[in-house]
Amino acid sequence: MTEPNKQANILEQDIQEVLLSEEEIQRKVNQMGMLISRDYLGLNPLMVGVLKGVLFFMADLLQAINIPTEIDFIAVASYSTESREQGVVRLVKDLEMPIAGRHVLFVEDVIDTGLTLNYILQNLRARQPASLEVCVLFNKPDHRIIDIPLRYRGFDLPDRFVVGYGLDYKEKYRNLPYLGLLRPEIFRGR
Ligand code: IMP
Ligand code: MG
Repeated sequence: MTEPNKQANILEQDIQEVLLSEEEIQRKVNQMGMLISRDYLGLNPLMVGVLKGVLFFMADLLQAINIPTEIDFIAVASYSTESREQGVVRLVKDLEMPIAGRHVLFVEDVIDTGLTLNYILQNLRARQPASLEVCVLFNKPDHRIIDIPLRYRGFDLPDRFVVGYGLDYKEKYRNLPYLGLLRPEIFRGR
C-alpha cells in the first residue's frame, strides 16, 4: 500500500526547502515549556491564542508544561484592506474566561509587523490581567513596525513567507509537521 506516501507527496512537492525540521521545532517547544513551567509555578497561568495558526504550537507547548495551566482562544478577522494595514482587527470569537487578575500568557505562532498582536494586546490589557506576557514561536524581526517585548521567543526567521506547523498559505499546508518555504510558483505575494 503506497497510498499514504503518495498523499504526503502532494503537499511536500510544493515545498522548496525545509527551514526547521519537526525535531528542531519539538526540541525548542519543549525548552519553552520548561521555562514557562518554572516561571509560572504557583500562578495558574492562562494561555491565550489566536485561532487558527497557533493550534499546533499551543497543543505541543501545553504538553511541555508541567504545572496547572488553562487555555482559551480568540478569533479575529480583518475589517478592510486599509485598516488591516494598521493591524485593526475585529474579534469574531472572544475569550470564554474573564482574565481580570489572571496571569495571562499570550501564545502566538508568528509575529511579522507586530501590528495585529499589538492591537490584540491592547484589547487584553484593558481587561486588567495581573500580568500579560508574550510567547512566540516564529519571530520575523525584519518587518517589525511596533516593538513588542517578547518574554519567550522560539526562532528568529528571515523575511520569507513560511508554511507548516499551523501556518498556512490560503488555508493549506498547516498540517506539515515542519516549517518550510513554498516554491515561488505556488506563492505569489500574500
Ligand atoms: P503581523 O505581525 O501583524 O504582521 O501579522 C502576523 C500574522 O500574519 C500572523 O498571525 C499570521 O497569520 C500572518 N503571517 C505573517 N507571516 C506569515 C508567514 O510567513 N506565513 C504564514 N502566515 C504569516
Ligand atoms: Mg496568527
